[in-house]
Amino acid sequence: MNAICATLGRMSETVELTEQEREADLSPEQLQQLVGLVDYDAEQDPFPVTGWDAVVFVVGNATQAAHYYQSAWGMTLEAYSGPENGNRDHKAFVLRSGSIRFVLKGGVKPDSPLMDHHRRHGDGVIDIALEVPDVDKCIAQAKKAGATVVEEPHDVSDEHGTVRLATIATYGETLHTLVDRSKYDGPYLPGYVEKTSTFQKREGSPKRLFQALDHVVGNVELGKMDEWVDFYNRVMGFVNMAEFIGDDIATEYSALMSKVVANGNHRVKFPLNEPAEGKKRSQIDEYLEFYAGPGAQHLALATNDILRTYDELHANGVEFLATPDSYYEDPELRERIGQVRVPIEELQKRGILVDRDEDGYLLQIFTRPLGDRPTVFFELIERHGSLGFGKGNFQALFTAIEREQELRGNL
Ligand SMILES: [Fe+2]
Repeated sequence: MNAICATLGRMSETVELTEQEREADLSPEQLQQLVGLVDYDAEQDPFPVTGWDAVVFVVGNATQAAHYYQSAWGMTLEAYSGPENGNRDHKAFVLRSGSIRFVLKGGVKPDSPLMDHHRRHGDGVIDIALEVPDVDKCIAQAKKAGATVVEEPHDVSDEHGTVRLATIATYGETLHTLVDRSKYDGPYLPGYVEKTSTFQKREGSPKRLFQALDHVVGNVELGKMDEWVDFYNRVMGFVNMAEFIGDDIATEYSALMSKVVANGNHRVKFPLNEPAEGKKRSQIDEYLEFYAGPGAQHLALATNDILRTYDELHANGVEFLATPDSYYEDPELRERIGQVRVPIEELQKRGILVDRDEDGYLLQIFTRPLGDRPTVFFELIERHGSLGFGKGNFQALFTAIEREQELRGNL
């Protein structure tokens, strides 16, 4: 179960869906369009990864955050662990949208380690858990490559079966728990009980606002990006993707450098950023200061209708970064992006960005930070063939902003 088809001919005909993807009623064709899957031979992989298992957040108030992610983000509550069922340390809520599982944890006991984590980092991602077909094989490879094993492979069981787990450390205090749930059919993990909510969506709102997780970006310190790219190459057998943002773009607007690694089938993609010297202080430096070290910067949520998703989220009070009108009025941009599925005016109204490469195009938009600190945020992404991450938007936004500066006489 859950194994990736080793010999892929035409991808969409042969790719095997994960349990979560099947439950989300996603077809291989949809998934390929949503997150840009590619052909891949799992047999040759020293650290085969099937896909995402869960993104685990530590938050200051999981009880209320669980409500926010349901009411604003349309996620569905499906499992819970807390003092009522024997977990005296913290409360944990498991939410879902499409094939993505989000876990929100908040400390209950004053001496909970989660309280310390939250004191240091604020709301953020503690664990990017990955589904793997063979935990022991992955850990053997991780050890050989010199990774830090935080938890050795072990079984956890309850009346729903057995899950095999192990955890390795990545950048900062972020973890990758490796999960083999092929012999388990409970709501999440042993220790969790099924839980639903009385929350009701607005009449007419869609079943879900996004369907899959596309990528999770890590921010690391100056000079460390290549070390972490090497970590994912060496330890987890991830491959480098073409997108690379170097000084040429970095020093102007975005003040960051970025490289992308992905697992064999590209279900799991990790762009890694480091700060670059810019005209102003880098946005990555700001993150590193307020998160008190490296950590997950943003999660890109894949949708097949970014306009609808935006409209729903906007009506629910979610705030997005604004895009200057000059971005859309730039003849070079219009030339670059060519024909997309909606009129530019519809994108402009919402501030949705467009990028195109040789494979196709993508639409994207970023939220403001989700919590109190200027750290973690979400991206919405709608792919149409493009396997990129919006590199062209760094330059385009910079140019647009400079044009406005010039108009104000401040350049
Ligand atoms: Fe992104």
